[in-house]
Amino acid sequence: MIRIAPSLLSADFSDLRGELQSMKEAGADLLHIDVMDGHFVPNLSYGAPVVTHLSAHTDIPFDVHLMVTNPGDYIQPFAKIGTRMLSFHYEAPVHHDRLIHAIQDAGMQAGIVLNPGTPISVLDDVLSVVDYVLLMSVNPGFGGQSYIPYVTDKIARLAACRRERGLAFEIEVDGGVTPANADKIRQAGADILVAGSAVFRSDDRKATIEKLRGK
Ligand code: DX5
Ligand code: ZN
Repeated sequence: MIRIAPSLLSADFSDLRGELQSMKEAGADLLHIDVMDGHFVPNLSYGAPVVTHLSAHTDIPFDVHLMVTNPGDYIQPFAKIGTRMLSFHYEAPVHHDRLIHAIQDAGMQAGIVLNPGTPISVLDDVLSVVDYVLLMSVNPGFGGQSYIPYVTDKIARLAACRRERGLAFEIEVDGGVTPANADKIRQAGADILVAGSAVFRSDDRKATIEKLRGK
């Protein structure tokens, strides 16, 4: 079952409550929330205080993507508001295994994120403990960029490795996903598609989500 996670980064920030309602009506499976600290990536978005307020106004599960230098500091605040999925970048911390377990012990699904240029081989050992892998298909920091074509092969290799090893982690793809390229991303083996600008800038958000799903 393919799940679609619209990224709030492309929403109208002056009406986040209305945008949450719109995502509910459009049939979003998850809400992708990009947390940026202005240090790990050259942009600043929102943190736990804003997301805490949002959580009171929707029952769509949150898929929080931490683009921060110290992800460990964010585990408790996001656990407290009932976050379903929390991911951090492989490129940020040193103690990957410890962080994965800390996220899971706090009651969330733990994801590890790879920048486009980071090879999947670095995940060999943690693949057996992680709940999902998020493959970035743009360089993180901004919405509205173009999908990097070589990531499709990366998805396929990660899916093959999952099959060969009989593992159950999910594969999420984030960046430049549109109805035009979603088919090949799904066929390569992705389970969760993040889409920011494609959904929020579309005239018919529900139809766009259905197209991303392949319907
Ligand atoms: C980029 C973020 C993405 C972004 C995707 O750093 O991680 O989630 O919002 O936006 P689009 O779909 O517009 O590329
Ligand atoms: Zn993201």
